[in-house]
Amino acid sequence: MEKIISLCKRRGFVFQSSEIYGGVEALWDFGPLGVLLKNNIKQEFLKRFVQEKDNVVLIDGTVIMHPKVWETSGHLKNFIDPLVECKKCHGRFREDHLIKKRCPKCESAEFTPAKNFNLMFKTFLGPVEEESGTAFLRPETAQSMFTNFKQIQESMRLKVPFGIAQIGRSFRNEITTGNFIFRSREFDLAEIEYFVKPGEDDLAFNQWLDDWESFFIALGLKKEKLRRYEHPKKSLAHYSKRTVDIEYEFPWGFAELAGVANRTDFDLSQHAKASGQALDYTDPDSKKKYIPYVIEPTVGIERLMLALLVQAYEEIKGGRTTTTESVKEEEIVLRLDKKIAPIKAAVLPLVKNKPEVVKKAKEVYDLLKPHFSVQYDEAGSIGRRYRRQDEIGTVFCLTIDFDTLKDNAVTIRDRDTMQQERIYIPRLLEVIRQKLDN
Ligand code: GAP
Repeated sequence: MEKIISLCKRRGFVFQSSEIYGGVEALWDFGPLGVLLKNNIKQEFLKRFVQEKDNVVLIDGTVIMHPKVWETSGHLKNFIDPLVECKKCHGRFREDHLIKKRCPKCESAEFTPAKNFNLMFKTFLGPVEEESGTAFLRPETAQSMFTNFKQIQESMRLKVPFGIAQIGRSFRNEITTGNFIFRSREFDLAEIEYFVKPGEDDLAFNQWLDDWESFFIALGLKKEKLRRYEHPKKSLAHYSKRTVDIEYEFPWGFAELAGVANRTDFDLSQHAKASGQALDYTDPDSKKKYIPYVIEPTVGIERLMLALLVQAYEEIKGGRTTTTESVKEEEIVLRLDKKIAPIKAAVLPLVKNKPEVVKKAKEVYDLLKPHFSVQYDEAGSIGRRYRRQDEIGTVFCLTIDFDTLKDNAVTIRDRDTMQQERIYIPRLLEVIRQKLDN
């Protein structure tokens, strides 16, 4: 983990929030490459689960909702963790995270009795900080998909089964922090609420679980590093009939990556009751009304990003790319899937002191940048530049050399195989497109 954290900082993926003031625990800023990576992951989610599905639509709800939402959803009462305080050093911890039953800071075994701590962040609507104006930052995106259920179904003329998807900022005042971006206080959640006829929920659950897992594999996670955890009935969330976590083997062991829950008709029924608005569905054939059941696949984008980084990170002792400085140091290759790699191609003029070579390289850069995220780099030996690009997972390196001036072709080097090919510049865009699509 230390190596991944260091790479993320050194190469502009992730920084601690407000670091110049000492940082804030469990809050992270995403740098230029981190944003590209996160956006690519989100795009893949949208492509696979919205664009390519006939019956899933996307919404973008607000972070702050009517306070009644959280009362009705059960979050005010149930979205709690058991908090204990160490009597000696006054450190505060989640009781269920104290594996050794001793304080992780001072090793004392004496704690106060557990108190329930609500994880939702509070704020106030309007200029006066008074109880009646209390509002909450959403801890999950799901609720706006329930409160808008009827409007979306009617306005988009959707028939059950159908899904509503959302990616959005979510907030949790986590007590236990650590493990980098695995557990943050502010993160992007990607969720789908899939509405089905009661009785068809068990089958839909199993299909979504398979679909969800294959999405992570398609993004680059190894199947053998994933496993499923079936929540025992007694520890299910207040809304759930069945929940299965998909766990990934992080450097510290298996931990929850994502989940699929059967939320039954709990949320729609509760909101219908509390708001007095009908949140049911009329079957177009039988004309019977019912409240659909909901299958919910969910994943935190940052947590997924961490798993993908862990999976992609490879250190090659002694290095594989010769540098002119003949440095035999460790080389890092970030073998991110080409779909999500932040930079698709780097344009590298062999030398920077020959204006014709530099001019040609800039032409290649200008040709590609409207189509992909491309970097231009002319600093240091070519070997060094290959290493720099491999370390951030750049899929292809394109070298412009003296021959380019004669044959109008560049050398394209593949990050993973290091194979090199000469490509005629007028064909370059098409060739890269094909390689990225395959
Ligand atoms: N709507 C269901 C729901 O919110 P959850 O298991 O509480 O379920 C869903 O959270 C997913 O969000 C988790 O599987 C995990 O990927 C991610 N997640 C939860 N808490 C997180 C945190 N503090 N930081 C980053 N990701 C988190």
